Amino acid sequence: MKIMVIGGGGREHAIIKKLKENKQVSLIYALPGNGGIAKDAECVDIGAKDIPKIVEFAKDNNVEFAVVAPDDPLVLGAVDALEDAGIPCFGPKANAAIIEGSKVFSKNLMKNFNIPTAKYEVFDDMEKALNYIKTAPIPTVIKADGLALGKGVIIAETREDAENAVKSMMQDKIFGESGSRVVIEEFLTGPEVSVLSFTDGKTIIPMVSSMDHKRALDGDKGLNTGGMGTVAPNPYYTKEVADECMEKIFLPTIKAMSSLDRPFKGCLYFGLMITKDGPKVIEYNCRFGDPETQVVLPLLESDLFEIMRATAEERLDEIEVKFADKSACCVVLASNGYPKAYEKGFEIKIGELADNANFYIAGAKLDENGKLLTNGGRVLNVVATADDLEQAIKNAYKAAENITFDNAYCRKDIGQRALQALKK
Ligand code: AMP
Ligand code: GLY
Repeated sequence: MKIMVIGGGGREHAIIKKLKENKQVSLIYALPGNGGIAKDAECVDIGAKDIPKIVEFAKDNNVEFAVVAPDDPLVLGAVDALEDAGIPCFGPKANAAIIEGSKVFSKNLMKNFNIPTAKYEVFDDMEKALNYIKTAPIPTVIKADGLALGKGVIIAETREDAENAVKSMMQDKIFGESGSRVVIEEFLTGPEVSVLSFTDGKTIIPMVSSMDHKRALDGDKGLNTGGMGTVAPNPYYTKEVADECMEKIFLPTIKAMSSLDRPFKGCLYFGLMITKDGPKVIEYNCRFGDPETQVVLPLLESDLFEIMRATAEERLDEIEVKFADKSACCVVLASNGYPKAYEKGFEIKIGELADNANFYIAGAKLDENGKLLTNGGRVLNVVATADDLEQAIKNAYKAAENITFDNAYCRKDIGQRALQALKK
């Protein structure tokens, strides 16, 4: 079986390593992949957004199944184009990926179907947005409607910051056309939980929960990043919270999408906040999270390829999806300076890792001599599992000692908040 995975980061590397556990999988192409993924898949120099070339490649090379991992190609209709060409896919069509592609769509969906979320207003006129801010409760949250590389959310602590945020999005277009419409919403508080799920539009199977660490520095200080580490499971996601989410959020969401003729097939990601009034949706993503996938998939005991195929064929109700009753911790090794300016081109040396550890490469390339060099802000993910979270964290940091490159930086406190919550 020849498979193609679209994307080229740590998340895609984790997906590829997991797919390789299936003996039927004979070859995996990664488009574009990266220098580190090249050890596990055949990397093809086609960008994740170049849909015509992706389809052409898939047809020319008899690809039998495709996994589209990043948001952009999903929102742009990669799955529609591949399926039209007869290639089965894991991932939603564009008309369902809109659940991430448009915040206005997702907020209206939640309002119309009574799914708990922050109260909000939508504006496509800047003057009206500025006027609203004059009396809006502060802090307030301003979100660009469209995709913005995960950066389209500004939490304004003052009215002035809120005005500046609106102007930067709607007038200065810092996120391009994504900011032509904005959502201004209520600021919620509470611990955050990420829940990825497999769904074929009828059945939904949540994966083990996880906790992201978005800020660059220890103690959740510093700038927002694409994620500096994750742990799973998330201690705030208790059985009671999980049951409430299933009843009030997960099932209503997939039913709502199907009722609008937008059945969601693939991985639906729920970004949740556990508020004092119960769990609320902060955001939906139409894809696996990064770096959540890197802690969730190592705990998956069932066969990922079989689950993906069952999802595509709408028979998720027929299969079992099992997660180990263990914990996992992922530490991101980044280039010093990230998410601002950083240097690249340093050699990455990976020593022996324990059986409980693994690594996924996010930003690296091979030089002409086959040396692996840093080539991005987030360079790689070190992941380890254990029977409990405390040990998983220790194992991950221990494994990280065996991976070196100049200018490496990582947070030293991944999982500490979760550990404290467990001790309460
Ligand atoms: P996103 O880029 O959509 O993942 O949002 C970035 C982060 O902004 C989230 O992980 C939350 O921490 C925060 N956030 C988004 N919406 C709200 C909200 N309504 N209230 C409080 N924090 C929020
Ligand atoms: N870790 C957050 C995301 O994938 O959007």
